[in-house]
Amino acid sequence: MTKTFKFDVILGSEDLCNRQKEMRRVLSIMERQGRLVLYSIRRMGKTSLVHVCSQKRGEVGQGVFHLYIDLNETTSLEEVAQRFHTHSELAFKKQFPVQKVKSLFNDILSRLKVNLPGDVELSMENIAFHQPEAYLLQLFQKLGEISKKNETVLVVDEFQAIAELRKAQALLRREFQQLSQTAVILMGSNQRLLYKIFNDKKLPFFSFGEDMELQPISVEDYLPYLNERFATAHVIIQKNEAEYMLNLMNNIPNYINELGAWIVENFSNLELTKGHIDSAFESAVESKRGRYSSALYGYSHLEKSFVKAIATLGPVKKYSGGEMQNETGLPASELARIKKELEDCPLLSFDTENRLFIIDPF
Ligand SMILES: Nc1ncnc2c1ncn2[C@@H]1O[C@H](COP(=O)(O)OP(=O)(O)O)[C@@H](O)[C@H]1O
Ligand SMILES: [Mg+2]
Repeated sequence: MTKTFKFDVILGSEDLCNRQKEMRRVLSIMERQGRLVLYSIRRMGKTSLVHVCSQKRGEVGQGVFHLYIDLNETTSLEEVAQRFHTHSELAFKKQFPVQKVKSLFNDILSRLKVNLPGDVELSMENIAFHQPEAYLLQLFQKLGEISKKNETVLVVDEFQAIAELRKAQALLRREFQQLSQTAVILMGSNQRLLYKIFNDKKLPFFSFGEDMELQPISVEDYLPYLNERFATAHVIIQKNEAEYMLNLMNNIPNYINELGAWIVENFSNLELTKGHIDSAFESAVESKRGRYSSALYGYSHLEKSFVKAIATLGPVKKYSGGEMQNETGLPASELARIKKELEDCPLLSFDTENRLFIIDPF
């Protein structure tokens, strides 16, 4: 089978480059019912890594139950409960026989004192929305029962979404505590918000579990991965050029793969030089030009000029310093204010040296 570059999707094990060490650790957490906080900026491969580990446990263990919840953009306890409902319904249906799913739902339902406003149709989704606490308590109780018989793993993705939802945090922390026979893996992509959740002594998730930051993949590991996929176009890349390509893409696997796919489409029968990589990058950027305006849609005029200045200057340490003032024509106080507005937006992130940079290289 010829291998292709995939991006913007969750990968299966055949497309995961390396991550052996990380995989062993996640698998061990799953087996020993541990607690893990897995974090990195977006598109480094967290969801794919955990997904592949879940698949692997499913192949080894009998009666494994893995529940994956994505909290992306949930803004209230009601939405959190609905998300738990949607994902758990899916997981039950996929991993248990029909009969068992029916009795599972009947159980949960019968234990809830359903009290919906008159005109609302009786569905689990509505119940979750109108009685989020009661619903979640019953769902977690069910998970507790399941975990006595099945290896149970709970994965909650984009956990930073509930950074401001104290009530949801308190409830989830309490319930996770009860799930002594369940592995709990929390993932997230906004370091600042995650830090708030897990490092504040006054908050429920203070010092929850072990943590692991997903690091860039080394060029030694990426080189054979690239060549395997370039082979369809009879393109070859050497280590120095591969390193150049990885750096150009901020070492983010999603963008490395996206540029790889572009190269396969546009080049053939050659050994890549840095010049080829630059021209591939430029034409890829050109082809995606429309995305700039859509990516900046909804940002104010001042915010746009702030983002543009960061893009022009490269990673910026002093976001209100002289360089930024020159580039934007704005005073330091104004820059500081805009930075505060933008610090959690999906376009920007801090690197390991605490410099602000544009995540998407395209
Ligand atoms: N180990 C890996 N090897 C190669 N590409 C990867 C790897 N991990 C992630 N990617 C690339 O990144 C993309 C996004 O991965 P994803 O798991 O959704 O990241 P995250 O959850 O951190 O945002 C994938 O579609 C793929 O292109
Ligand atoms: Mg993800």
